[in-house]
Amino acid sequence: MSELVKRYTASVFFDKRLWQADIQGSLAHAEMLAAQGIIAAQDLADIQRGMAQITQEIESGAFEWQLDLEDVHLNIEARLTQLVGDAGKRLHTGRSRNDQVATDVRLWLRSEMDLIIELLVDLQKSLVDVAEQNVEVILPGFTHLQVAQPVSFAHHLLAYVEMFARDAERMSDVRRRTNRLPLGSAALAGTTYPLDRERVARTLGMVDAEGHAQVCQNSLDGVSDRDFAIEFTAAASLCMMHISRMSEELILWMSQNFGFVKIADRFTTGSSIMPQKKNPDVPELARGKTGRVFGHLMGLLTLMKGQPLAYNKDNQEDKEPLFDTVDTLKDTLRIFSEMIGGQVNAATGLKEGGITVNPDAMETAVKKGYATATDLADYLVKKGLPFRDAHETVAHAVKAATRQQCDLSELPLAVLQGFHASIEKDVFEVLSLRGSLNARDTLGGTAPTQVKLQIARHRARLA
Ligand code: ARG
Repeated sequence: MSELVKRYTASVFFDKRLWQADIQGSLAHAEMLAAQGIIAAQDLADIQRGMAQITQEIESGAFEWQLDLEDVHLNIEARLTQLVGDAGKRLHTGRSRNDQVATDVRLWLRSEMDLIIELLVDLQKSLVDVAEQNVEVILPGFTHLQVAQPVSFAHHLLAYVEMFARDAERMSDVRRRTNRLPLGSAALAGTTYPLDRERVARTLGMVDAEGHAQVCQNSLDGVSDRDFAIEFTAAASLCMMHISRMSEELILWMSQNFGFVKIADRFTTGSSIMPQKKNPDVPELARGKTGRVFGHLMGLLTLMKGQPLAYNKDNQEDKEPLFDTVDTLKDTLRIFSEMIGGQVNAATGLKEGGITVNPDAMETAVKKGYATATDLADYLVKKGLPFRDAHETVAHAVKAATRQQCDLSELPLAVLQGFHASIEKDVFEVLSLRGSLNARDTLGGTAPTQVKLQIARHRARLA
């Protein structure tokens, strides 16, 4: 092999990050081989001793990763054999790198997903914390980015909590399908040794909720499909899509034209030429990195498409996109939790430095857009008008208010009555922002009573 081909085919410089999963899988395999009488008890003891030393060498940085040994699996196995001799050479009995790598990636991804689910919980908690402080704060709810109806800022934040809750749920679903054991499929067809695959699955925690071993039931499928990785990347893409929507809103809200919120300086940067600038770099980068994760999803789908059964070396290319997706998602979730909810001050134990809200700017903005026009229409409906007629009547009122450059609530009662005789003094409560908010008192609505119920539900769920 030329140096170029060696470098081209090797994966050790990226797949070495699977080392813990690789050793974990090997130990479970060896233990089963010994229990089945395929290797001797002494071999198992030697393998365990060797792996303990390798673990320590890798952790301390002393381990010498070699390009010549191609990948993480051969590097570890070669060192094991150096350390313990023949027992090391027996480890690979009834196993192939094909089922080994599929197992390693699943084990690694499983633990990363557990971390991601925790990070999603943290982010939801940060959002709920901020929501709790802002139940009564009103901002314009938009459709088509045009002022639509007044909404509680807490309600707006809780919309994201719903999204991240579904993202966590999706991760748990993917975890369930990832948590199945390929080992024992060998190269592609199974093996001639009397393996106990279910035992290995149990050792590795590949069990369902009832504790039943989860084993890939077809060897060709077990070694070759990477649908779990694709599914994970799809779930990660959806999560990044949600992050990206939130980023876009933060960027808009931070602009001088909105001025709704501020994020702490440590998440922004200045400009090299314009001294007044404070740019929302973190949300912008998150929005950008979302594209990169979508790209990995497309990359993995394309990698898998058209591969004949069973294992093909193409699959070595699953790792970098997967690793980068995990890294990007984890960093993004961490940074967003902190940017929104702040950081715990070690001295006080309290969180500080999260997002700051400017309720006055929100209120000014919501007053600009006739956000309570629907409330006036609903008011007329309650007086007996059919909704379509009420809609038209209010359109006339909005036109009049626009001409006078004032809000509906600023039109004198006599003028309002000119649009419909049934309008009375109580209309002004209906036209107020707070009245509008309080009126949306159905499940999932923005009324503060509803929002508080949701906050309590989330608190209980996330505890
Ligand atoms: N480094 C390889 C991968 O990541 C391991 C499996 C190699 N198997 C093989 N038959 N060459 O897919």
